[in-house]
Amino acid sequence: MSKQTILVTGGLGFIGSHTVVELLNANFDVVVVDNLDNSRAQVLEGIRKTCGKDFTYYNCDTRNEQAMHDIFTQHPQTKGVIHFAAHKAVGESVDNPLKYYDNNIYGLVALLKQMKANSIKSMLFSSSCTVYGQPEQLPISETTPLKPAESPYGNTKKVGEDIVSDATKTGQFRSISLRYFNPVGAHPDGFIGELPIGVPQNLVPFVTQTAAGLRDKLSVFGNNYPTADGTAIRDYIHVVDLAKVHVKAITRLLNNEGPDYDVFNVGTGRGYSVLEVIQAFERVSGKSLPYTFADRRAGDVIEVYADASKAERELNWKAEKDIDDMMRDAWTFQQNILDKSHVLNTDNNA
Ligand code: UD1
Repeated sequence: MSKQTILVTGGLGFIGSHTVVELLNANFDVVVVDNLDNSRAQVLEGIRKTCGKDFTYYNCDTRNEQAMHDIFTQHPQTKGVIHFAAHKAVGESVDNPLKYYDNNIYGLVALLKQMKANSIKSMLFSSSCTVYGQPEQLPISETTPLKPAESPYGNTKKVGEDIVSDATKTGQFRSISLRYFNPVGAHPDGFIGELPIGVPQNLVPFVTQTAAGLRDKLSVFGNNYPTADGTAIRDYIHVVDLAKVHVKAITRLLNNEGPDYDVFNVGTGRGYSVLEVIQAFERVSGKSLPYTFADRRAGDVIEVYADASKAERELNWKAEKDIDDMMRDAWTFQQNILDKSHVLNTDNNA
């Protein structure tokens, strides 16, 4: 049987690059579309080194419908799309909501229009556990009621899911929204990982950059939460586990299995506090991490962790890596980054 092609938008980003590796390992042909807005061309080499396989890359924005049409025409064997390309900095989205709606919403609509024009049915959409806000009950299952978004970024994920779901109801698409909990870590080979441009907004890259001496100290946002040690709890998931669920989900769509539209939580089902993350990092790196307590960060929820049993039941996927793996691999990658110029970039589009 000839190989099937998957087009991956944002394929040079953190989750995208790891997913491209898993798709190539699973013997798909891959076409990456990425405008390098928050990623770097060196990731191309990192992906190739990690899996020893090649793929096609276009520097293109999904909002450019003519260019996307040309790419789909060049690759008529494309059977599905995995859509990662989006902005993801919560604070920036509050300051510049139109940038977020333009890229995350218009970019999605333009992509779906071109998929339709080129008769490509299968669509995997990157969503987030942010759509649940702070739920009344834990763990969070896919039937947990959604909360109004706390930020324009969060709203683009909620509205993005609605757009994909409504487009699917026409019969022209089959699609899945994956609601990621907190993706961290890096490929254990150390060639690809998280490369935030400017000051990291998320916990783990800030931890590894602090340990590497690029930041003075970590601020732990809030130590008076109603949790065992007072710090907030999240369900951290290793990015390689997360990448693997994309292969399962796109395969299900391509095989015409399951409903036309579906939603899955992607987490481990276990929550860790910020202090537990720091302890795990210190344990595996052998380094002591300088940190101080700071005020709570606006918009942060207290505690979230997934009920990820639907993905296990229906996609035959389960997270395999633990918090020590996540910290060890993130640290290995941090130590491998020789070009530190991204750290100095002042554009906080992390
Ligand atoms: C955030 C977004 C989420 C988004 C995800 C993208 C919010 C409310 N949520 O998740 O919608 O999908 O990023 O990756 O922003 N922390 C510190 N010090 C730091 C950084 C973080 O203590 O320097 C704490 C935070 O307060 C939080 C935990 O670490 O308790 C995790 O934070 P982070 O990695 O930013 O992820 P989320 O906020 O959970």
